Amino acid sequence: RWPRRVVSALQPTGALHVGNYFGAVRRCVRLQRRGEPLVLFVADLHAHTAPQDPAELQRRSLETAAYLLASGVDAERGVLFLQSAVPAHARLCWLLACLATQARLAHLPQYRERAAGGDAPLGLLLYPVLQAADVLVYRATHVPVGADQLQHLQLTAQLVRTFHHRFGRLFPTPAPLLPDDGSDRIRSLRDPSKKMSKSDSDPKSRILLSDGDDLIRLKIQKAVTDFTPEVSFDPAARPGVSNLVTLHSLAADKLPEEALEEARGLSTAQYKRVVADALCGALRPVRERAQALLARPALLHELLRHGAARARALADPVYAEVAARAGL
Ligand code: ADP
Ligand code: NA
Repeated sequence: RWPRRVVSALQPTGALHVGNYFGAVRRCVRLQRRGEPLVLFVADLHAHTAPQDPAELQRRSLETAAYLLASGVDAERGVLFLQSAVPAHARLCWLLACLATQARLAHLPQYRERAAGGDAPLGLLLYPVLQAADVLVYRATHVPVGADQLQHLQLTAQLVRTFHHRFGRLFPTPAPLLPDDGSDRIRSLRDPSKKMSKSDSDPKSRILLSDGDDLIRLKIQKAVTDFTPEVSFDPAARPGVSNLVTLHSLAADKLPEEALEEARGLSTAQYKRVVADALCGALRPVRERAQALLARPALLHELLRHGAARARALADPVYAEVAARAGL
């Protein structure tokens, strides 16, 4: 009964890495190419859950938008904008926060990890509520997520039920879109027991979309594997080598079995060159398009302004209905 709508976001907290690219950006691009209506934004409000330098945040927001466009996001067919340009996100967040309990939020694993028992900012606790508002304000029917975000989507479903109980039906319950190609769990190149992350202090743990060919090759060459010389795919027992197979298959658009076939007879060291070639080939066009876009900041600002106006045209009527239901 609800028209399909896919909503997703990327944080501008650091340069995007290949985990973000294969796990989020490229999936959005492919959904959009299949005809899914895509609402995609740069989550600059979310970024403030960690301390931000204002000028740096603005620079990164623009850079993130440039990389999304360079990755193939179609800003005309979909809607692309900065989260802070659409006040309905934060306004709906407030009402949803009043429906959530502090205990429920404090129990979420990502909060427990990031707060680590310390006196964390309230924004960190509210983060998943803002995520719920981010998608509900567009009446999202589908949200592309990784397995580790399912709990946040369950919170969203619970907030929808509570809202409906209090104020009447207004939202679809967004369904998760999970990938089946391992793209939601790209591992750190330096510690394959961890996810690749922007917040890792070791710069060689991740390949950035801005890295040139030489740096990509160096980082793959330095990737931690194990002491078995041949290549196999066994994420539990051999996370480092398996991560290389996953990266190879994603970059070359092959099945893991096909990637493994190419690795046959190669040592891990030799295979790393194949993986690096595939990554260089996949990332070079994205990097070059992004650099061209970043040379035209006025164009980027104009695109985002236009996107924000279209996003407000979607979100404002939904929030107006929420406010009316809530007696505001
Ligand atoms: P990070 O964890 O690097 O700070 P974000 O939290 O901003 O990245 O996540 C942005 C998007 O990228 C999310 O959809 C997230 O699932 C995806 N993502 C982040 N890290 C990885 C990873 N290591 N592998 C696959 N996808 C990832
Ligand atoms: Na993350």
